Amino acid sequence: MKKILITGGAGFIGAHVVKHFVKEYSEHQIINLDCLTYAAEPKNIVDIESFDNYKFLKININNAEDVDDVFKKYDITHVIHLAAESHVDRSIDNSIDFALTNVIGTVNLLNAAKNNWIGKRDHLFYHISTDEVYGSLGLNGSFKETTKYDPKSPYSASKASSDHFVRSYFNTHNLPVVISNCSNNYGPYQNEEKFIPTVIKSLIERRPIPIYGKGKNIRDWLYVNDHVLAIEKIFNNGRVGETYNIGGGYEISNLDLVYKIIEMYVDLYPNDFNYNNLISFVDDRKGHDFRYSIDSSKIRSELDWSPKMKFEEGIKRTINWFKK
Ligand SMILES: NC(=O)c1ccc[n+]([C@@H]2O[C@H](COP(=O)([O-])OP(=O)(O)OC[C@H]3O[C@@H](n4cnc5c(N)ncnc54)[C@H](O)[C@@H]3O)[C@@H](O)[C@H]2O)c1
Repeated sequence: MKKILITGGAGFIGAHVVKHFVKEYSEHQIINLDCLTYAAEPKNIVDIESFDNYKFLKININNAEDVDDVFKKYDITHVIHLAAESHVDRSIDNSIDFALTNVIGTVNLLNAAKNNWIGKRDHLFYHISTDEVYGSLGLNGSFKETTKYDPKSPYSASKASSDHFVRSYFNTHNLPVVISNCSNNYGPYQNEEKFIPTVIKSLIERRPIPIYGKGKNIRDWLYVNDHVLAIEKIFNNGRVGETYNIGGGYEISNLDLVYKIIEMYVDLYPNDFNYNNLISFVDDRKGHDFRYSIDSSKIRSELDWSPKMKFEEGIKRTINWFKK
């Protein structure tokens, strides 16, 4: 039996991961560790509370002793580490929480794994990271696993630092680790402060849709459940010590994305209101990365993963979830 510690399982992606693993792996014990910051939404995971193979722990990864206790008490054999401060705008206003949780919190987990897993080669520390560690692209090219790290925001700097720590524990302590770097996710449960939820909420409430600068920045979008399936593949079959890039292959500028969401919204809820008039350009984010693009050929060929959800369908599901 694996005893899988999933951190950040009350957040957006973590909730989907926890629910998937609890339901698909009844033979394993799933321990969800989350300190429930503003970004957590416990009601998204109430439906798994009654499962025998599930346990929730309200613990802060910044507390090294508490983290070590969890490893000892539950004899943790595997970690899927998602807990993080995740919003770039917040990292610009207050970088400290990002350094504490994303860097120190990750090191606390690594230390607990190192100290409790001596000689255990069948264990795994899986660190979930972002494509933003690679920096910003011009109109051409894509991030590969070999692309040099060049983080530009305090958020991506903290994630890059945590990635380096994870790799260093593989090199220095032989800790069995794997890392994935994923592009922008969207889907149900995402916090309203993020871009796609902001757009959808603005449409529902018919209030201005804020777009940074001229809306030309380009992101590569992935439906959250496709990320979960990629995580599952890497968890089960990823090679220890390796990094896998995960991307949706759906690149679109922020402005075109808003037009697309409006189109899908009116498709679902036809009416005569001119939603395009809600578009409102605001001062650009400081140091705003221009473009992210992921080359995910490694996970596609090695682990036979590819995104399944069509963007239009994924957006419609997301709209319907927020509408409900
Ligand atoms: N959202 C994306 O598009 C995206 C893309 C690539 C990678 N990632 C990475 O995936 C992970 C999850 O992202 P998300 O969007 O679901 O984040 P989120 O902000 O929605 O959720 C983060 C969760 O971590 C918990 N948490 C924060 N600090 C903690 C602490 N000190 N101790 C314990 N728990 C803590 C929060 O309570 C929350 O439940 C992050 O590591 C993020 O860097 C996110």
